This record gives sequence, structure tokens and C-alpha cells, in this order.
Amino acid sequence: MIHPNRGARPSGRILASAALLVALVLLGLLSAISSAEPAQTKKANRYIGAQKCKTCHSAKDTGNQFEALSHMKHSHAFEVLATDAAKKTAKEKGIDDPQKADACVKCHVTAFGVAEADLAKGFDRTIGIQCETCHGPGEAHMKARMAAAATEDPDAPKVYKGVPEGEVVTHPAMAVCTGCHNTDSPNYKPFCHCKSKLEIRHLNPKRERTDAEKALLTACECKAECACKQACCKDGPCTELAKPAK
Ligand code: HEC
Ligand code: HEC
Ligand code: HEC
Ligand code: HEC
Repeated sequence: MIHPNRGARPSGRILASAALLVALVLLGLLSAISSAEPAQTKKANRYIGAQKCKTCHSAKDTGNQFEALSHMKHSHAFEVLATDAAKKTAKEKGIDDPQKADACVKCHVTAFGVAEADLAKGFDRTIGIQCETCHGPGEAHMKARMAAAATEDPDAPKVYKGVPEGEVVTHPAMAVCTGCHNTDSPNYKPFCHCKSKLEIRHLNPKRERTDAEKALLTACECKAECACKQACCKDGPCTELAKPAK
């Protein structure tokens, strides 16, 4: 930015040193920001719990994802560990209380094994499998959307805006599901990725999709190894089964 000063006129020198001063101040500011950043970003992406997501994801016209969750068995996955069926399964493994045994809890809650520091105050594991099990911690996303909303014209028509890449997991991969839907589960049922994805689908009808996004919705990642008996996955992508609902 500061070029060699050939003219060497006094005014030029003053200008140059003023520019240098400004540059130094800016540099100081920048380094202050960047040194504060790592700690901040680390703290700013904790698990916040589904009640927080509800604030912005319970409008009917954008797909009411919160209500969709309440209809999923996932949201009762911790409670189910208190049933007689769960106790019977547990007993066979020498476990008295499945709700207190990591061997069961690990697949029946959100953020199992996550350090306390990465959970927002009031985060409650006992509410079962929630949004962040599949979408990852949501604090940074929540803060970014709140900041964006604060600068918006409240009278402007509501349109779909989307979020920057990487802010929150938009298309949880099959590996997320098979982290729990696998043979370590005492109640394992063969898992068909695209069929089960469809069963829990909670799309935003306001969202216009690119071809790449449509492909993600109809993609079946399990291919030939797919354990389910459905026609799904045998002949490439199961577009029939994976058509977006509604
Ligand atoms: C302050 C409001 C707010 C909160 C809280 C919030 N979101 Fe969002 N979220 C948005 C907005 C706005 C969009 C963009 C979609 C739109 O414009 O309708 C979005 C989009 C998404 C998307 C899809 C990305 C896309 O491009 O459409 C996912 C997934 C998502 N949010 C998950 C969550 C989860 C999980 C939580 C809770 C951990 C959460 N959100 C909390 C406002 C919020
Ligand atoms: C590897 C992950 C995993 C572990 C470990 C696990 N579960 Fe589950 N559990 C699941 C999944 C996934 C399901 C849903 C059934 C399926 O599709 O496999 C489930 C379903 C259940 C159900 C409901 C059964 C039904 O058919 O509706 C009960 C009860 C249950 N688990 C109890 C337990 C108990 C008790 C333990 C500990 C001894 C345990 N689970 C350990 C993943 C797990
Ligand atoms: C068991 C995993 C799971 C849970 C729990 C879950 N989601 Fe999703 N969500 C997905 C998957 C997978 C997709 C990608 C779309 C698809 O393939 O059906 C998705 C897509 C979305 C989208 C984008 C919709 C679109 O139109 O593209 C939003 C927004 C969203 N979820 C929000 C939430 C919120 C908020 C919660 C909790 C109230 C939640 N999800 C709970 C798995 C989950
Ligand atoms: C943290 C572990 C975990 C993850 C991750 C997970 N599941 Fe599950 N899932 C379960 C458990 C446990 C149950 C059974 C809950 C019960 O019966 O109370 C279940 C039940 C289901 C069901 C039964 C039907 C219903 O009404 O809910 C479907 C379908 C399903 N999961 C699909 C998925 C898909 C698709 C993904 C990935 C996008 C996924 N799951 C990720 C643990 C998990």
C-alpha cells in the first residue's frame, strides 16, 4: 500500500507518514480482532437445543420443522429407554437402568460425549434426539440469523434467503444416520437410507432448488450394500421413493 516516495517533497512525506500511522492503527485493530476470533468462534458454536430452533423453524409456511420433530420417534428416544421393553433388552446385557447406561444412551440422545463447555446453558440431553443430532451444533447459525434479521426491513415481504455454506449442516449425510442405525443397536432394523430419509422429511416449501439440491434429496447413498428389502437402491438412485413429500 505504501509506495516508495520518489518526489520526497515535505507534504508527500507527511502524507506518507500519516498513511503509515493509519495503516499501523488498522493493523493493530485487525490483529486484535483476529486474535480474539479463535476463542470466540470456538465458544460461539455450542449445542443450543431444539427449543431455540423452534423460535424460527415453527412457521407453517416454511415447513414447521419443529412440529415435524415432535412427530418423529427420535424426539422420544430417551423416554423409550424407560420402557419395559428397554429394560428387558438392557437386562440381557447386564444393565439395570438403560437411561443411566452409556451403552444405551449413546444412541438415544443428542450430543452424547460432547464436552460440557460445548453445550449452551440449559441444554437438556434427556429430551432425546433433536435437530442438532443431524444438523450439528446450531449456536453460530442462530446468532448469524438473528444478526441478519436485525438489519432487515420488518415490512419487506418474507422470501426464502438460505444460509451461507457451512453455517449449519443442510443435508446430513447417510453416515450421520448409520452412526446409530447400525448392528450395535440391540433393536437393529435394516436401514434403508432413502426410505427412512423420506419418513422423517421436513422440507421448506418456500425453498427453490437447484438441480444439485434436487439430486441431494433423491440421492441414495447406500447403493448395492443397502440392507433393506425395498426396491430402493438396487437400480441406482431411488427417485421414486425419494420424491420430496407434498
Ligand atoms: C433466529 C432464527 C433462527 C434460529 C434460532 C434457527 N434458524 Fe435455522 N434458519 C433460519 C433462517 C432464516 C434460515 C434460511 C431459510 C429461510 O430463509 O427461510 C435457516 C435455515 C436453516 C437450515 C437450512 C439451510 C437452508 O439453506 O435452507 C437448517 C438445516 C437450519 N436452519 C437448522 C436450524 C437448527 C438445527 C436450529 C437450532 C439449532 C436453527 N436452524 C435455528 C433461522 C434460524
Ligand atoms: C448403535 C446405536 C444404539 C445403541 C447402542 C442402542 N440403541 Fe436402542 N435404538 C437404536 C436405533 C437406531 C433404534 C431404532 C430401531 C432401528 O431402526 O434400528 C433403537 C430403538 C430402540 C428401542 C425401540 C424399539 C422399537 O422397536 O421400537 C428400544 C426400546 C431401545 N432402542 C433400547 C435400547 C437399549 C436398552 C439399549 C442399551 C442396551 C440400546 N437401545 C442401545 C440405536 C441404538
Ligand atoms: C434424524 C435427523 C434429523 C433431525 C432430528 C432433524 N433433521 Fe432437519 N433435515 C434432516 C435431513 C436428512 C435433511 C435434508 C433433507 C432431506 O434429505 O430430506 C434435513 C433438512 C432440514 C432443513 C432444510 C429443508 C429444506 O427444505 O431443504 C431444515 C430447515 C431443517 N432440516 C431443520 C431442522 C430442525 C429445525 C430440526 C429440529 C426441530 C430438524 N431439522 C431435525 C435430518 C434431520
Ligand atoms: C443419535 C442416534 C441416531 C441418529 C444419528 C439417527 N437416528 Fe434415527 N433413530 C434413532 C433411534 C434411537 C430411533 C428409535 C426411537 C424410538 O423408537 O423411540 C430412531 C428411529 C428412526 C426412524 C423410525 C421412524 C420414526 O417415526 O421416527 C427413522 C425413519 C429414522 N430413525 C431415520 C433416521 C435418519 C434418516 C437419520 C439420518 C438423517 C437418523 N435416523 C439418524 C437413532 C438415531
